[in-house]
Amino acid sequence: MKSLIVYGSQYGTTKRYAEKFSEMTGVPEVSYEDVKDLKEYELIVHFGGLYAGGVKGLKNTVKALGKNSKLVIVTVGLADVQDKENTDNIKKSIKQQVPADILERTEIFHLRGGIDYKKLSFKHRAMMTLVYNRAKNLPEDKKNAEVRAMIETFNSKVDFVDYNSLNQIMKVM
Ligand SMILES: Cc1cc2nc3c(=O)[nH]c(=O)nc-3n(C[C@H](O)[C@H](O)[C@H](O)COP(=O)(O)O)c2cc1C
Repeated sequence: MKSLIVYGSQYGTTKRYAEKFSEMTGVPEVSYEDVKDLKEYELIVHFGGLYAGGVKGLKNTVKALGKNSKLVIVTVGLADVQDKENTDNIKKSIKQQVPADILERTEIFHLRGGIDYKKLSFKHRAMMTLVYNRAKNLPEDKKNAEVRAMIETFNSKVDFVDYNSLNQIMKVM
């Protein structure tokens, strides 16, 4: 099967996962920014960092995808991926980013990334500060996994990248 790994990464964690998966599978990887047409591929594995629920680069991949190509979406975010409420929310948000006919031939996986506040752009740091200030005063029962991860890691550096978590995706290759 002719396959390609596409990634959308702002700060590198998603890129690291994509590069490792390329190494594990022998399938080449490319940034979504360098992708125009994907029609020649039967399988696309799209790794995308989560930004306010959006999967980085996914819009571009969906647009470039061939009519019958299979899509695998791998999200990389800060929140705990063992938390079902979190992964359900990510899936819900993906439904809004991918047309139903493509979603039918799509498999979705969730991995955990990391963050280094020192490396954030001014805009991203401002966004996170705003969200943090709003979130920290929420009652405990209103803090979901995403909010908790954000509060716990605010202004610090954390790296949850775990290459073993890539093994679950091998079965679709
Ligand atoms: C502005 C901003 C918004 C984010 N939104 C989410 C989110 O909605 N859900 C989540 O789990 N992580 C979120 N994150 C964390 C990133 O998904 C995480 O840092 C990821 O590892 C980034 O991937 P990258 O290093 O490849 O860009 C956000 C981070 C920033 C800076």
